[in-house]
Amino acid sequence: MAVFFNITISPIPKPPKPFTASLSPPQTQISKAPQKPQQNPIFKIKGPSTLSGHISISGSKNSSLALLAATLCCSGSSLLHNVPNVSDIKAVASILTYLGAKVEAFDGKMIVNSDGVGNVEVDMEEMKEIRGGFFVIGPLVARFGEAIVDLPGGCEIGNRPVDLYLRGLSALGAVVQLRDGKVRAHAANGKGLVGGRFRLDYPSVGATETLMMAASLADGITVLSNVAKEPEVVDLARFLIDSGASIEGAGSDNLVIRGKSQLHGSECVITPDRIEAGTFMLAAAITHSCISMSPIIPSRLSCLIDKLSEAGCKISQFNQHTLEVSAVPTYIGDNLKGFDIRTSPFPGFPTDLQPQAMALLTTCTGSSLVVESVFDKRMSHVRELQKLGARIRVCGSTALVFGKDEGSSLHGARVFASDLRGGVSLVLAGLAAEGTTEINNIAHIDRGYENIDRKLQHLGVDIQRLTPVACPL
Ligand code: EPU
Repeated sequence: MAVFFNITISPIPKPPKPFTASLSPPQTQISKAPQKPQQNPIFKIKGPSTLSGHISISGSKNSSLALLAATLCCSGSSLLHNVPNVSDIKAVASILTYLGAKVEAFDGKMIVNSDGVGNVEVDMEEMKEIRGGFFVIGPLVARFGEAIVDLPGGCEIGNRPVDLYLRGLSALGAVVQLRDGKVRAHAANGKGLVGGRFRLDYPSVGATETLMMAASLADGITVLSNVAKEPEVVDLARFLIDSGASIEGAGSDNLVIRGKSQLHGSECVITPDRIEAGTFMLAAAITHSCISMSPIIPSRLSCLIDKLSEAGCKISQFNQHTLEVSAVPTYIGDNLKGFDIRTSPFPGFPTDLQPQAMALLTTCTGSSLVVESVFDKRMSHVRELQKLGARIRVCGSTALVFGKDEGSSLHGARVFASDLRGGVSLVLAGLAAEGTTEINNIAHIDRGYENIDRKLQHLGVDIQRLTPVACPL
């Protein structure tokens, strides 16, 4: 199969640093994440759809969450560009505001100044709802000497302990206590954290990010080993370095961090969201369509690109940051071929694309094996995909997906999103299904996809966002 793919990437241009805030209107002062709507909106999709055109990929949600927490490490203002307008970001912005930081948002930009932080305890619902809120424990204890935070929430995709965060902070000289669902950490010497050595048992993204932030302000040298190599970790390191930190090894297994007494705010363009881009690539594949997208950093998606090429898609790179995915029948024939996946830390197949890839596999030929090895309960989308006609058998964290030629055929039905990526896998299935698919609980999808309905409409999809009206008794 001919694949016209040639990667030559140069980094997305960075603006100058350091940053001194001089604000111009219009600005929006962030105070509190919007109240949850009384009625959770739904998506109605009329399928099958054929997509065409070009879409813009938003800034990375997970990079933005880490960088927002990192602004707590910095004196003065930090300016983040290309921050996606999704509800998880609003939740973290309100946590920062609650702590006393000044947060302003306008036109995809966020300015954060945490010099006014006077509170080290977060007692907010948002903290229990999103994983990214917990990252503030590192900066708070490192810069302000103490942190009291709730154990984190986030998508229900399995056991999500924080032992590595807590053991890592202890290795940096923090006393950590866990009581009644709250974690309290303070510097044992009463002054601040100190450099240390810590090996993560598992390369956790969040623990790596939290410890990198903490170590950047610790006194002395910290060596972290078996750390996460995810692009979002590299993005965070880049921001911290621009803010005055000394970090070597981001993107490798080990980090050497020379702590500084203080960091200054800086300016950063959030890199494109690789998971959103991957989701749209899979949307093109499942609908046998051809779409292009930018900006995208293809090397961050090479695992998905290889799998889609193996399935029969044609993937072409037009310029540094534009990719076209084609699965049109004139190119692929009747169907794409199934493929096996096993999720693993970067550069392996991303767990955050597993549910969407599974939706695609139900429409391919042959049977495919999907092994989820990062989270222990990331299979709740299977039940909903089955309602849409998918034939999938699950045993623990392994799923056997039967393809089109084995009786799987998608048709519209009423389904429920139970988490962010599982929810969006139902959107993809709805694009390929015959008839109308109604997806409930789409607040889960709004946590991480900016305007997904409008982007799909732009590509020609018949998708509507509806808010059910409460029936008066
Ligand atoms: N783990 C531990 N102990 C810890 C921390 C993690 O055992 O102290 C285990 C977890 O139980 C899990 C594995 O390590 O089995 C991986 O978890 P990791 O800590 O790497 O994930 P995370 O930091 O909680 C981030 C993203 C997730 C993404 C994962 C893996 C953010 C806010 N979240 O989560 O994103 O799936 O890394 O790449 O950055 C999403 O966007 O939908 C999402 C869930």
